[in-house]
Amino acid sequence: MKIVTTIQEMQQQMKACRSQGKTVGFVPTMGYLHEGHITLLKEARKDNDVVVLSVFVNPLQFGPNEDFDRYPRDIARDEKMAKEAGVDILFYPSVEEMYPRPLSVQVIVKERVDVLCGKSRPGHFDGVATVLTKLFHIVMPTRAYFGMKDAQQVAVVDGLIRDFNFPIELVAVPTVREADGLAKSSRNVYLSPEERKEAPALYRALQKAQEAIKNGEREPAAIRDLVIDYIQTNTNGVIDYVEVYSYPELKPVAPLSGKIIIAIAVRFTNARLIDNITVDVESSY
Ligand code: PAJ
Repeated sequence: MKIVTTIQEMQQQMKACRSQGKTVGFVPTMGYLHEGHITLLKEARKDNDVVVLSVFVNPLQFGPNEDFDRYPRDIARDEKMAKEAGVDILFYPSVEEMYPRPLSVQVIVKERVDVLCGKSRPGHFDGVATVLTKLFHIVMPTRAYFGMKDAQQVAVVDGLIRDFNFPIELVAVPTVREADGLAKSSRNVYLSPEERKEAPALYRALQKAQEAIKNGEREPAAIRDLVIDYIQTNTNGVIDYVEVYSYPELKPVAPLSGKIIIAIAVRFTNARLIDNITVDVESSY
């Protein structure tokens, strides 16, 4: 596995891959790898000649009061896990390498961002879209892999790729969970032991909602109430949002029909957890 820290070397490496006609699978991450990331890498390994992993904690997508400084980092561990997952090139640039001067151009996301995390984290998806635009240009992959854990991010990247004509196939990978249902996340390490015990209730709440749809419930408000009630009864977390929308458009839909998403964000003492489930309403029973 090659470790590359400069954009110039990365561009040279990728040019060499393309001139040999090799397909490239790209998995962008912020590091502190876990099984969710590894699953994306394995998918990329299956489909492509070359697998590129980027590890970059992108300051642009963190708000002023968010956790950029204390976002977990462990590049030695990431290197080892990446090697084991069959990564060919690990791109690990510094903040100075990616942003040597204040940006004179930035990507602003206009659709699919006035709801969910986009609403509670203003500017977040502009930061994501901007860094991905840079990374896509640097790597020029055949395919890019994203997890449905961050379903709104998948919807935004889908728009970015289509609107800016990136010749990249977007591959959305299902959420990887702990045995008790908690979605794997780099932020889970910030849960207290007590909160860690409560956290699987988020997924159980989503499963109950799915079950209710299966049993004929079509009112988004009823689904929302059911999820809120379950989380409030079973955790000490503070609900940031519980929403039901069409997917990937992220528009209100009542009565429920087509492909929908039930998405939640819950604040615990030192970690804000998100989770979601997508349901094909008509084929759910
Ligand atoms: P990060 O949070 O490190 O996540 C990198 C990728 O791993 C994302 O596509 C995310 O959806 C996926 N992922 C995380 N947990 C997962 C899980 N439990 N199951 C499946 N996939 C999972 O998302 C980002 O980084 C950044 O916003 C980034 C796209 C790198 C831009 O900076």
